[in-house]
Amino acid sequence: MSSPAAIAERAHKLREQINYHNYRYYVLDNPEIPDAEFDRLFRELQALEAEHPEIISPDSPTQRVGGQPLEGFAQVRHRVPMLSIRTETDIESSGAYNFDARIRRELKLKEDDPPIEYACELKFDGLAISLRYEHGVLVQAATRGDGETGEDVTQNVRTIHCIPLRLKGNEPPAVLEVRGEAYMSRPDFERYNEKQRESGGTPLVNPRNGAAGSIRQLDPAMAAQRPLSFYAYGLGEVAGWAIPASHYAVLDALSDLGMPVSHERAVVQGPQGLVQFHDDIGRRRDSLPFDIDGVVYKVNSLELQARLGFVSREPRWAVAHKFPAQEELTVVEAIEVQVGRTGALTPVARLKPVFVGGVTVSNATLHNQDEIDRLDVREGDTVIVRRAGDVIPEVVSVIKDRRLHTDAPRFEMLKRYPVCPVCGSHVARQEGEAAIRCTGGLYCPAQRKQALLHFASRRAMDIEGLGEKLVDQLVDTGIVRTPADLYKLGIAKVASLERMAEKSASNLLAAIEKSKHTTLARFIFALGIRNVGEATAKDIAAHFGNLDALMNADETAFVEVPDVGPIVAQSITQFFAEPHNREVVEQLRAAGVNWQDAVPRRKPLGALADKTFVLTGTLPSMSRDEAKEKIEAAGGKVVGSVSKKTDYVVAGAEAGSKLSKAQELGVTILDEDALLLLLRPEVQGRLDF
Ligand code: IVH
Repeated sequence: MSSPAAIAERAHKLREQINYHNYRYYVLDNPEIPDAEFDRLFRELQALEAEHPEIISPDSPTQRVGGQPLEGFAQVRHRVPMLSIRTETDIESSGAYNFDARIRRELKLKEDDPPIEYACELKFDGLAISLRYEHGVLVQAATRGDGETGEDVTQNVRTIHCIPLRLKGNEPPAVLEVRGEAYMSRPDFERYNEKQRESGGTPLVNPRNGAAGSIRQLDPAMAAQRPLSFYAYGLGEVAGWAIPASHYAVLDALSDLGMPVSHERAVVQGPQGLVQFHDDIGRRRDSLPFDIDGVVYKVNSLELQARLGFVSREPRWAVAHKFPAQEELTVVEAIEVQVGRTGALTPVARLKPVFVGGVTVSNATLHNQDEIDRLDVREGDTVIVRRAGDVIPEVVSVIKDRRLHTDAPRFEMLKRYPVCPVCGSHVARQEGEAAIRCTGGLYCPAQRKQALLHFASRRAMDIEGLGEKLVDQLVDTGIVRTPADLYKLGIAKVASLERMAEKSASNLLAAIEKSKHTTLARFIFALGIRNVGEATAKDIAAHFGNLDALMNADETAFVEVPDVGPIVAQSITQFFAEPHNREVVEQLRAAGVNWQDAVPRRKPLGALADKTFVLTGTLPSMSRDEAKEKIEAAGGKVVGSVSKKTDYVVAGAEAGSKLSKAQELGVTILDEDALLLLLRPEVQGRLDF
């Protein structure tokens, strides 16, 4: 049996390790150990504390979610008030020049005095929070409230993983109040909403509401389910700590104490520097993994800040410049539907054009009937439209008291569109599915057009020049009904189409001819079988080796293919059970579409066998397609989205949400050099990152 001292020491050691790895994971986005190992350490500490409750301390990492639901929040008086900041909606760079001129005037600087140094930061779109550490331990977290008095939200804030319960370092300040913003990242927001939609719950309107809702939860267990993050941007009360001389150095010092501080910050000289920072962030706003509503400029020197002081409740030394809003009001002029390649009828709100998130938006997806019901959106309604990041515009809510026609009918898709608006086939909603689909299959021109575009696309048969306009004409004139018809086209027919000169007609025919020589994987992908993406098509092609084996296989044979589950298996067998589809395949073969058959391969070979990669951003010396080819040649697989199962994310410049998701999930991230190293035959994928 271990002595009490040995137990306490083991617990101390485990807490140190857990805090360290927690910091690497949530603050540095750079974990050192796999999740499973972290879980093991965590469970060991939990077990130890369960057996010896006397060793539990409030700053133990096991104590993040604890305590009972509250009746209400206690009030907290801020010893140093939480101020707000002057916010200007900037239209052009003159804002930065005006700010600088104001500061210089206040400081009575002359024209030939050197430029002012500014610290530039992001304006995070969340909720201001003050964290109070006493002797290094988090003792209280409070909202801003009216600036003088806020609410005690300590229990909920403790569930935010990137906020340390204990500061790093051996000589913590006696008192340190850290001010910053609690926010919900876009990936966390989307994941939460996806789960809510699946379970029939209410999705969050936007990440900011998500953050506010989570912080103001009375039950900390509920708060923990809406994951938040935090960035520090300033100080409150401080005692027993030498405050650095500049704002930027304060942030560095907070970072050294283990506080999360955004890397997206800079020290610049004069107004030109402010404009540069503003424009740089403006360009990259969409690829940040969280919402911002602008940038903040602060005079860097704390001594100058003190000289400048405050006007009313705002410091003279800081200003926020807002970017164009990512949410705006507009009117739904009509609700229509679009028919996709798989026949799904997607309701679309046709909007009175509105400038939001930096672009003019005139359509927003309404997803499906469930979403329309949830929003209760009707034609003529005034709605909030959101466009943030690279996500397609969405209607987030309806302003009900602005509904002009109170008798406007609810929009019911099956009533409005009992048949497909494009081909007149009846539509149906399959059990367990949110989507309503046209049953017309390739009889439906909308599906046919989408199917042809998919067939011709670069990653499928790669028919250059066969774009949307041309496909519209070919289908509308009835010249082309199936992909096989493409190979029957003659020059006269093509040249007779609108905007088709003899030259472009012969180019198109040459491209069609060239596409005949392809690979089995591309061919399978080109068929547009539901649930069969590029990666699945490649797996199936490699597994079966030739088309006949595949066409005659039953569902059980497909399930043997790595990564193919029953749903995909069913989609494929259903596709080939349809005589019409077999006929098109035969016609394509008869027209001369060909590929090299391979020996059926039951197990992928190569150094990177079974490894999954996701590519994102621009690599310095090769295109993503080249990288993909290299990875596949070594037996690896490239997929489109990052999940826990992803082995590596290869990230280049301007990598966006995929990179942040990988960081969040702790997926190993490679740059181009690391990828090339991994691909080297002598390394054989056996690198330990
Ligand atoms: S500084 C004395 N810096 O914007 C200055 N505020 O009114 C105190 N905000 O609700 C604020 N990002 O929560 C500062 N980098 C940043 C910020 C920031 C977001 C929020 C803050 C407050 C509002 C300013």
